[in-house]
Amino acid sequence: MPLKVLFVSSEVFPLIKTGGLADVSGSLPSALKSLGVDIRILIPGYSAVLNQLNDLQYIASIHNLPVIGDAELLLGTIAGSLIKVIVIKSASLYERDGGPYSDVKGNEWQDNPIRFGILSKVAALLSGSETPIKDWQPKIVHCNDWQTGLTPAYMKLVENTKAKSIISIHNMAFQGCYSPDFVSTLGLPEAGFTIEGFEYHGQLSFLKAGIFYAAAITTVSPRYAKEIQTAAFGFGLEGLLAKRGDEIKGILNGIETDEWNPETDPYLIKNYSASKIAGKKQVKSALQQQCGLNIDADAPLLGVVSRLTHQKGLDMLLPNMQRLLDAGCQFVLLGGGEAALEIAFQAIATQNPGRASVTIGYNEPLSHQIMAGCDMFVMPSRFEPCGLNQLYGLAYGTPPIVNATGGLADSVIDTNPASIKNKTANGFVMVEASADGLLACITRALDVFRNDAKTWQKIQKNGMSQNLSWDKSALEYLALYQTLMQTI
Ligand code: ADP
Ligand code: GLC
Repeated sequence: MPLKVLFVSSEVFPLIKTGGLADVSGSLPSALKSLGVDIRILIPGYSAVLNQLNDLQYIASIHNLPVIGDAELLLGTIAGSLIKVIVIKSASLYERDGGPYSDVKGNEWQDNPIRFGILSKVAALLSGSETPIKDWQPKIVHCNDWQTGLTPAYMKLVENTKAKSIISIHNMAFQGCYSPDFVSTLGLPEAGFTIEGFEYHGQLSFLKAGIFYAAAITTVSPRYAKEIQTAAFGFGLEGLLAKRGDEIKGILNGIETDEWNPETDPYLIKNYSASKIAGKKQVKSALQQQCGLNIDADAPLLGVVSRLTHQKGLDMLLPNMQRLLDAGCQFVLLGGGEAALEIAFQAIATQNPGRASVTIGYNEPLSHQIMAGCDMFVMPSRFEPCGLNQLYGLAYGTPPIVNATGGLADSVIDTNPASIKNKTANGFVMVEASADGLLACITRALDVFRNDAKTWQKIQKNGMSQNLSWDKSALEYLALYQTLMQTI
């Protein structure tokens, strides 16, 4: 009998996405299905989800849920995928204009602890004896990030299930800490509200609950698994994480190669590959035209697609941006987030017509076009649990310029004589996480780009010929599931 796994996530591409969690939730389950796992996704019934799923049908009702009482479960499939998706239908909780976590103005929904408390509760219910879905019961419940963090606590303390839980940590910076009143509101036992449980500095912490009660913990890169056990990266939970240190497994994310492949990408004016890389030039000039940049094949074009937050370190680019543009570089940015960063980058674009283009907002096609049309991709993150954009950069022959942290350090090999010789060089890694460090790294990349075209092509081809798919990492998740099954 195939192993039944419930994969619980608050965002799944292409249904709803704010970042890399959606990419992973949209692609890892398919890779696991190919390995023979009987996997279903559980997601809140946001309007975007209800509108996009195929063959959506009612499968069960749930009663006596905290706060909302009743909800319905629907089952559907994502277009073009065979993965079944279980949807929690609750109009009052999830059917609203705006994003999964905030309204159209960017203000967090005030009832997020209830919205994601219910997601966590339903996941736990489905694995227990009270499940409303009798003909499909998971043996493994795979949780992702704080939004699903209460699931392992409910499984252990309330539902008393035999199924095993895993929490995958995609970002320690977001923990879901709320007023202690939510302990009783969400039907959690008061006994769990201690330091040896889900209490964190007097608050209810969703992520701590996950880390404390899950049978297994993973992070999205091996380096991040180590980093979060230190004060600099643990966001206050480093002590608990270090205690469970031996059990934390870092598994590097893969990419959806159907979605992110320059040979087939439908958003590109011209498809290209490692052996036909000339096509990338056409994509570059199309991007320059589309973004109002001077059409110039030789100008090094630096690209960014990112949330504009402290994590991503793009403020380190600002002090030297003008200098780089004056030295003949071009710059294109797509992103959104902190107002100060949006304003600062927009000012650069206004002051440098034809040389810098800044698009604030979310734009799927443009993100592909930037990834393909740029010469290099800049990602100086202060911390990066995995990062997918640098992987897309590798696949698209757009060498990433990155800080030496988390998944960036695990996937980008700095260009130097040794790595050129052994054919591993695929990008440029900062020595120091500062504006000067970033400038020095970009300067090194520019030097190769301008003066050594042969080496540049080698770097591009090294990245493009890597297997960045889920093949290897999905096997690691499967092995983890199998290990957990032995303890049931
Ligand atoms: P994070 O999840 O921390 O934001 P990742 O690198 O893991 O970082 O994933 C970010 C994902 O979100 C990538 O798929 C990237 O292309 C996408 N993305 C980020 N900002 C935008 C944007 N403004 N428009 C389109 N896609 C974006
Ligand atoms: C988070 C992290 C990012 C990671 C993504 C998917 O958003 O910030 O580094 O790639 O999750 O795991």
